[in-house]
Amino acid sequence: MHYRRLGSTGLQLSALSFGAWVTFGAQVGRGEARNLIACAWDNGINFFDNAEGYARGEAEAVMGDVIADLRLPRDGFCVSSKVFFGSASEPLPTQRGLSRKHVLDACHGALRRLRVDYLDLYFCHRPDPQTPIAETVHAMNLLIEQGKVLYWGTSQWSAAQISEAIAIADARGWQRPAMEQPQYSLLERDRVEQELAPLCAQGLGTTTWSPLASGLLTGKYNDGVPAGSRLDQPELGWLQQAQLEDPGRLHRVRAFTALAEELAVVPAQLAIAWCLRNRHVSSVILGASRVAQLEQNLAALEVAERLDASAWTAVEAIFPRG
Ligand SMILES: NC(=O)c1ccc[n+]([C@@H]2O[C@H](COP(=O)([O-])OP(=O)(O)OC[C@H]3O[C@@H](n4cnc5c(N)ncnc54)[C@H](OP(=O)(O)O)[C@@H]3O)[C@@H](O)[C@H]2O)c1
Repeated sequence: MHYRRLGSTGLQLSALSFGAWVTFGAQVGRGEARNLIACAWDNGINFFDNAEGYARGEAEAVMGDVIADLRLPRDGFCVSSKVFFGSASEPLPTQRGLSRKHVLDACHGALRRLRVDYLDLYFCHRPDPQTPIAETVHAMNLLIEQGKVLYWGTSQWSAAQISEAIAIADARGWQRPAMEQPQYSLLERDRVEQELAPLCAQGLGTTTWSPLASGLLTGKYNDGVPAGSRLDQPELGWLQQAQLEDPGRLHRVRAFTALAEELAVVPAQLAIAWCLRNRHVSSVILGASRVAQLEQNLAALEVAERLDASAWTAVEAIFPRG
């Protein structure tokens, strides 16, 4: 495993990390969740990503139980949560968003479910047009002062919104957002490489998500939707539509799969390795529904080092920037 600083902070995160969306508390049972965390930890992963909204808090509860059961040393791993969507099945007005009340309540809920005294990373999962940014920045600063959060950040905020949060924090002597969690893959390049790049150059860290575009970049959807796969899940119809509606995406993925074969690498490894090559990425958050997938994906570290420039040029020719 390699370790990278989270932006300009001193926190060293594993270049590959592991997240619980869709899987923990829903698609996979506790036994497999335990095997996945154990495999991640044994391979040097030190950052586990979660959110109040994943399986309505159940993903955090499963992760907390597993980490406690595995007796991972608290000073050896980092765990995150995210606030915005709420963990109730039908959140009341005060049970979602980025008000001071919900940011604090959600933090307390995450600490309880994850069975920890502090969150290493705490993200605003989306921007909240109903709350002044200054109120949210203040709430995050308060949690940091109380020792309940170490680093706070955003997810899917625009560069303008992040810059506003930074300006407010600087003006009032509060803690700045240290990181953003954007989507980043060969199919989703532009926000990270264009919009966020200037902020990253000034020290903003990134923990990026969906490096395989929910599995599309493995090539497993090239000939239809396999039974039991993520895009086969009835409640994720919206995701299937987002990933497969545009035939151009699948067309590019088929070309990418053929290129991977020529290069004698597994497409999933090639796609993740490509994310790792961007030095503005602090950690690539992996998802997996079984240990064999995680083991396969971890080898992306070696692929990122081994392939030469001509291979990366060929990859990027298939997925040009917008
Ligand atoms: N901040 C945000 O808004 C946000 C949004 C999304 C995700 N995230 C975070 O980022 C993490 C990773 O995102 P993601 O799960 O979407 O990542 P991903 O790598 O794009 O997709 C992971 C899924 O692809 C399939 N897969 C993975 N490796 C495979 C392999 N080698 N062969 C075949 N299939 C494979 C598995 O699904 P199946 O086996 O079920 O097909 C797996 O669950 C999440 O867990 C979460 O922590 C954050």
